[in-house]
Amino acid sequence: MDADDRIVSVDEVPRETTFLFTVRETSTDEERESILVRSNGEITGWLNYCQHFTHIRLDKGSGAEMRDDEIVCTNHVAMFEADTGRCTFGPCDGAYLEDIEITIDDGSVYLTDSDYEFVSVGPNETSTDLTSTSNIEF
Ligand code: FES
Repeated sequence: MDADDRIVSVDEVPRETTFLFTVRETSTDEERESILVRSNGEITGWLNYCQHFTHIRLDKGSGAEMRDDEIVCTNHVAMFEADTGRCTFGPCDGAYLEDIEITIDDGSVYLTDSDYEFVSVGPNETSTDLTSTSNIEF
């Protein structure tokens, strides 16, 4: 594994919430936020954008919340299965989060998705795609 692709150690991926990091899409050179999620002993990676409004982040800036092994969008409370990304409740019921390929190796999580490059841990500081502050966008 390439050290430049290392996101975080497995032990640092939280159980009650998600781990937020930033990637760069290689085809557009745009930075996008992503999350790591722990569920049933597995870690999965998803872009941090809802499928109700795909320009809106799932979280309020510190990683999406989890409830009963599902990722919760804080905007209009859509819920997504942590292992499949499928929306089970909310305005985008049946839609899937965009996945991001990761690999676990020697206790660390690596980004191994050829569509993205790892940028940094934490939010995308240059992002203008703000999380919704209103609930009237149904
Ligand atoms: S933006 Fe996520 S549920 Fe509306």
